This record gives sequence, C-alpha cells and structure tokens, in this order.
Amino acid sequence: MSTTRKSKPFQWQRKHLLGLRDLSVAEITHLLDTAQGFEEISTRSVKKAPPLRGKVVVNLFFEDSTRTRTSFSLAANRLSADVIEFTQKASSVSKGETLLDTARNLEAMGIDIVVIRHNAAGAPMLLSRNIKACVVNAGDGYCEHPTQALLDVYTIRQMRGSLEGLKIAIVGDIAHSRVARSDMWAMTKLGAEVTFVGPPTLMPAEVGRLPVKVSYNLDQVIEHVDVINMLRIQFERLGGSPFPSTREYSRYFGLTVERMQRAKPDILVMHPGPINRGLEIESEVADGRNSVILRQVANGLAVRMAVLFLVNQAAAETTA
Ligand code: CP
Repeated sequence: MSTTRKSKPFQWQRKHLLGLRDLSVAEITHLLDTAQGFEEISTRSVKKAPPLRGKVVVNLFFEDSTRTRTSFSLAANRLSADVIEFTQKASSVSKGETLLDTARNLEAMGIDIVVIRHNAAGAPMLLSRNIKACVVNAGDGYCEHPTQALLDVYTIRQMRGSLEGLKIAIVGDIAHSRVARSDMWAMTKLGAEVTFVGPPTLMPAEVGRLPVKVSYNLDQVIEHVDVINMLRIQFERLGGSPFPSTREYSRYFGLTVERMQRAKPDILVMHPGPINRGLEIESEVADGRNSVILRQVANGLAVRMAVLFLVNQAAAETTA
C-alpha cells in the first residue's frame, strides 16, 4: 500500500506586504513563482488581465520615485484596477493633515490597496493597523523596500537559476539603504552569502548583528563575488559628509572598468537606481555587458503584479 501523501498547494495568507524580514522561504518563492506567471501578460498585444477589475489601488507617495511608482501604476493597470496617484505636494498633507487622516479619508472613498512610500520607518505598519485596505510597502525610511529586493532576487534567479551558494556584494551607503536591508533578508533566506561593503562611516551601527559579512575594502571582495549590487549615496539623508570627497569615494568604492577586469567574467552588475554615474558606478559598467540594471526594472513589473494580486487574494479570503 502506498503511503505517499499529496502536499497541499501553498496558500498565500498576507493581505499586507510590509517587509521581507518576516517572510518564509516558501512565501518568497511563491511570490517569485507568481511573478513568473505574470510575465506573459506583458508579451500580449492587449497587455491586460482581469484579477483586480473593480478594485482601487492608491499610490500614496510621500517621497519622490520614478521606478517604483510607475511600476506599481502599470502593474495595477495591467491587472485592470483603477489607480489613484497621490503626491504629498499636491495634497492636503501640505496643510497639516496626518498620514492616518489622509489614509482614512482615501479609504472612505472605497480603496482596496494602498501602496505607500514614506520617509518614516514603520509608516506602512502603522497604516496596516489602522485601515482595512491592504497595505504594500514601497519603501519606508531606512527600513525596508520589499518589492525592490523581490525584483532583485527575481532577476538573479532568472539569470542563474537559483541563489543557493552565490556570493553577493552590496556596496556603498548601507547605513541609509532600505534596499540593502530588504536584499539582505531575501538573498540570505534564498541561500546566498551576502557581504556588505563600504566605508565604516556608511555601515549601520547594528551591522555585527545582521546575517552578513562585512568588508571595508572592495578590492578584496570584487574577485570572489557572483553578483555585485551598487548602491547610491543617499545625500538627502546624510547629516554631514561621510567621506573626504566624492572623488575619494569613487576611488575606493566605485565600480570602475579597471575593477571589473578583476571580477568574474560573468558577474552580474546590479543597481536599484537612480544611478549617480561616475560616482558609485562608471557609465561603461552601468551600460556594459554584465549589467542587468534595466532587466531589474523590467522584472519589477511582474513582481509588483504578483504582490498586488496576492495581497488582494488574501484580503478576499479573509472577508469570505
Ligand atoms: N529603486 C527605486 O526605489 O527607485 P525609485 O526611487 O525611482 O522608485
């Protein structure tokens, strides 16, 4: 008599995506697999599918964005949702309205999913505890940027098949980077070894407690890694100057053509954008054959479609 039992299909249960720290490997893998299923929609002549028909998605952005905002808008449109674009500058927030009052007023108009970017860490969690709509974090302070990290690991998986055993360097302004934190959670959960590389002044104080290696010398790391993710210096978040000059920074931590000659021939060069050409990465490298920077942007669309689809599905099941 056979004793094999069929395993249950994975059931996504989160109606909010606030970060990757608490997600299991199975949840991250399910998100990536769902995104892969959505890739095909973008190849159709009519690039639309019905899962969010009749739903309203609001893009609630309190910080500037090019990639994330556009990608979420397009993702929601592709899934047939109605999309509302909210910017702090053109809203009553400039007259003193609080985040919660803003969200509750939008909710009163019948929104289903809030995509929020805010300079305060924890703003998405605050919303999730106070409104009924699904909440998706599009970047909160230095805390997390989960969809950026998901599109990063999606891109690596697409190029290499798996992250298991890969060595990945994340280079630059780690201290002020929500991308570095979300990447760290996603990449290490999927089996990669992550090294944070940068000057001591741009390392977070708690780096010793994080599941990463640390290096202050890019030249000692560059030869050994399979993937290098270059971060922008977040000048808007710096109190003082963390290095003597930008030229000095580029010399020690910039991804130059000369440094690339010492890297593995098939190294993947990544950057979340926006790029400061000539500072953290030379143009020839950003546009070179190892660069997957625009592939990351393209993959962001399928990943965000998957996120919107899954949180909406979880919300429908909790109210059913
Ligand atoms: N990577 C990223 O978050 O880019 P934007 O700030 O343009 O959204």
